[in-house]
Amino acid sequence: MRTALCEKFGIEHPIVGFTPSEHVAAAISRAGGLGVLGCVRFNDPAELDRALHWMDENTGGRPYGVDVVMPAKIPTEGTSVDLAAMVPPEHREFVERTLTELGVPPLPSEERAGNGVLGWLHSVARSHVDIALKHPIALIANALGSPPPDVLARAHDAGVPVAALAGTAEHARRHVDAGVDVVVAQGYEAGGHTGEIATMVLLPEVVDAVGDRAPVLAAGGIGTGRQVAAALALGATGVWMGSAWLTASEYSLGMPDSATQRALLAATSSDTVRSRIYTGKPARLLKTRWTQAWAAPGAPDPLPMPLQNILVSEAHQRMARADDPAAVAMPVGQIVGRMNQVRPVAELMSALLTELDDTLTRLDRLR
Ligand SMILES: Cc1cc2nc3c(=O)[nH]c(=O)nc-3n(C[C@H](O)[C@H](O)[C@H](O)COP(=O)(O)O)c2cc1C
Repeated sequence: MRTALCEKFGIEHPIVGFTPSEHVAAAISRAGGLGVLGCVRFNDPAELDRALHWMDENTGGRPYGVDVVMPAKIPTEGTSVDLAAMVPPEHREFVERTLTELGVPPLPSEERAGNGVLGWLHSVARSHVDIALKHPIALIANALGSPPPDVLARAHDAGVPVAALAGTAEHARRHVDAGVDVVVAQGYEAGGHTGEIATMVLLPEVVDAVGDRAPVLAAGGIGTGRQVAAALALGATGVWMGSAWLTASEYSLGMPDSATQRALLAATSSDTVRSRIYTGKPARLLKTRWTQAWAAPGAPDPLPMPLQNILVSEAHQRMARADDPAAVAMPVGQIVGRMNQVRPVAELMSALLTELDDTLTRLDRLR
């Protein structure tokens, strides 16, 4: 299956994979898709540089992209120390009380608490762009709005196309007006930050709004070949998948069988919730005792980005160590109900393509 996206990026299959893991991103590119590495978790630009050097050596010369997070509404800037001081003590007390109720032990004395994700501050995201442009990237994507004009101009000067995620047709129109080259129409079902319109409704609206000004990729709820076929039928030039790679074997390198992975494998499509508790903006997460505690009467309102993640970052670290699948913090979409086995990216890709092919054959017989 080849579409205009394959020509544009020199890839074999019209499948783009967003992932926070350089191991998964490289495997997606090696399997003939376009792996896109999420940069938001890299508080230290030098660490991102190392990850991209690793990708340069492990993608077999295949193209790959990066994803940064520059919200259209700029969150409060500041150092991690200033920002931590802005977190109200009552919120900290709620987190501590909740972790005690969930039986999550404190960090061992030798482990330092992290600072929280700072990659959504424009200052940090700009450092990601600076580093990424030193590597042979094929795409820069931005979540949460069109990238600022100077970032778009820098990418274009370097010959790198820019993608942006859209949760409404109006977002998509604004992206192409701003000069964005690829629109990712991301529906409500998606893992991570997401809007309120389902992919089935959103995608044709975005395709019609954008017309021939930019290719549109479908995101949200895609994890099987039938869903890829549906996305193409609705007018997409390709798909952009995020959740499905979380159970790839390359994702769990170093910690197979983690509580998070066990929770993902067991979850059904009813086991997600859209909540502001991860970042301060609405994001779809795995529903667990942790998300339920924040939804219970008396729980505080989540803080705005970036303070909420600073508030909960140590809690995330503690839950990850506690090894209890009922209390983990993980963004994932409704497709989690189909993520029932751990397998290498290459296998996942080949299953997608086989089912896509079978679906197209079946549909062709209906004519
Ligand atoms: C764990 C996780 C982290 C994500 N982080 C980001 C991010 O940093 N930037 C971004 O543009 N999208 C992010 N997303 C959204 C994905 O790019 C993608 O749009 C979404 O996963 C597609 O829907 P799906 O989860 O149903 O495949 C994230 C998704 C997940 C599951």
